[in-house]
This record gives sequence, C-alpha cells and structure tokens, in this order.
Amino acid sequence: MLGIVPLANKDSRRPANGHLLFDTAHPSPVSESFRALRTAILFRFRRVSGCRVLLTTSPNPEEGKTTVSLNLAAAFHQNHLKVLLIDADLRKPKIHKIFDVEDARGLSDVLEGTARPRDVIAENVDGLGFDVLFSGPHSDHPTEILGSKQMSDMLTELKSHYDIIIIDSPPYLAVADVAVLNEYVDGITVVTRYHKTDKRHLKDMKKRLSREAEKILGIVINQVSVKEKDYYYQQYYYYGYGDAKPRKR
Ligand SMILES: Nc1ncnc2c1ncn2[C@@H]1O[C@H](COP(=O)(O)OP(=O)(O)O)[C@@H](O)[C@H]1O
Ligand SMILES: [Mg+2]
Repeated sequence: MLGIVPLANKDSRRPANGHLLFDTAHPSPVSESFRALRTAILFRFRRVSGCRVLLTTSPNPEEGKTTVSLNLAAAFHQNHLKVLLIDADLRKPKIHKIFDVEDARGLSDVLEGTARPRDVIAENVDGLGFDVLFSGPHSDHPTEILGSKQMSDMLTELKSHYDIIIIDSPPYLAVADVAVLNEYVDGITVVTRYHKTDKRHLKDMKKRLSREAEKILGIVINQVSVKEKDYYYQQYYYYGYGDAKPRKR
C-alpha cells in the first residue's frame, strides 16, 4: 500500500473547481495524505536519477485517478520538482473541464502529428506551478495512438524538460488503452476507492499487469471517510502531531 487519501469536502471556490484538494497554505488530512504519497513514491525512486514517468490507473471509472493525478502534480511541484500532468483518458477526458478550458489542444494533436508538445502544453496552469498537456480533440482510435511511436518519441522528448511526468489514464478494465501505456512508464500507481473497488477487479487487473508487475508502486485507498477510520489516522495526521493547529491564546 502506498497511502490513504481521505474523503474531502469539495469546495468549488478552491483552485481547479474544487478538485485541487492539496493545499500548501493550510494543513489538512488531505494535504498530509498527498505529502505522504509523494514521499512514498519518491522513496521508491531514490536510486533513480532523471525524469520519472508515473501512470495513475484504477480498475473502474470514478475511483479517483484524475483526482490523485492532479493533487500529486501539486504535491510534487511543492517539492520543487518540474511537473507535467498528461490527460491520457482520451475517451472521457476531464482535466480540461476541471480547468474550465474548452476545446483545448493537446495529446491527441501531438499523437496525430498536427502539433508539437511545446505548442500545446499549458504552462503553469492557473498559476499552480505545474504544466498540463490536455487530452486534445476527440480521436477515433485512442488505443492505437496511445501505443504509437509518436507517444514514445513524445515522452522521450519531454523527459529532458521535466522531473516528473504524471499520466492520468482511463479505467484499466474498461479499455485496452492503459495496457499500451505501461511499457513507457517507470511506475504505476493503482487507485482504489474505499468500500467501492471490488477486490476481484483488483486481482484481475494485477493479473493483466503481470508483465509489468515490478512497475506497480502500490495502491492508494481513496475517499476514506476519516470519521470511520481508526483513531491512529486522525491523531497522527491532524490533531496530535506538529504545531500546525492555531494556538489558543
Ligand atoms: N479524496 C476525495 N475526496 C472527495 N472527492 C473525491 C476524492 N477523490 C475523488 N473524488 C471525486 O470523485 C469523483 C470521481 O473522481 P475522479 O478523480 O474523476 O475519478 P476517475 O478519474 O477514476 O474517474 C469526482 O467527482 C472527484 O471529485
Ligand atoms: Mg479520470
């Protein structure tokens, strides 16, 4: 297990339409959870230098792939790493919606050969400090373009500009798109949703990932209701540890 992410109260007044749960200014269980996740991932790559390409996936839709990808991007940026977030969910792209960008150009343009990455990457999006490659216009053959030579060429080029590239992906069991991405990445983060993700689906996914088993960094249990979770979790992450809470006068 890589980490636990609590269920957050989404507040649309927060950056990225409330999807940015990681908040550098205010301590919270959610921010702490993404810091812990960042540390766990970096620890796995402590002997690796250069850019690391990370894939975020999960067996099914709505388990938190996009949320974990976005917040990890923010957490890595806070650690002074140069981060690129790529929306590779070409069938149901979401990151451009989160940032209120309509008709964004992006990954599909690069893979179809109609744009260079540097022409379509959104730099320092919304002032958050990291760069985003949106999905781009709808493609009729997502699996093929994701598995193409253009994809590996693009990543090779981008690796010289970034410390971390996070690829947000479609649900693993739904489509073949993620399987073709595995070979380009250094690590795979498997997101699961608390009380929702079916163990059988996880096992099925693990079986299908067997050739890339060594790349699996671990699972993240997302949307854990902190109220239900154990005493230890609340004590450690929020109340008991550190000087973060305001002192009584
Ligand atoms: N830790 C969390 N706390 C609160 N809401 C969350 C959390 N993780 C995900 N969500 C919400 O759950 C829904 C599905 O998450 P999303 O990241 O889009 O899943 P996926 O990319 O796997 O389809 C979204 O509305 C998202 O905002
Ligand atoms: Mg998603």
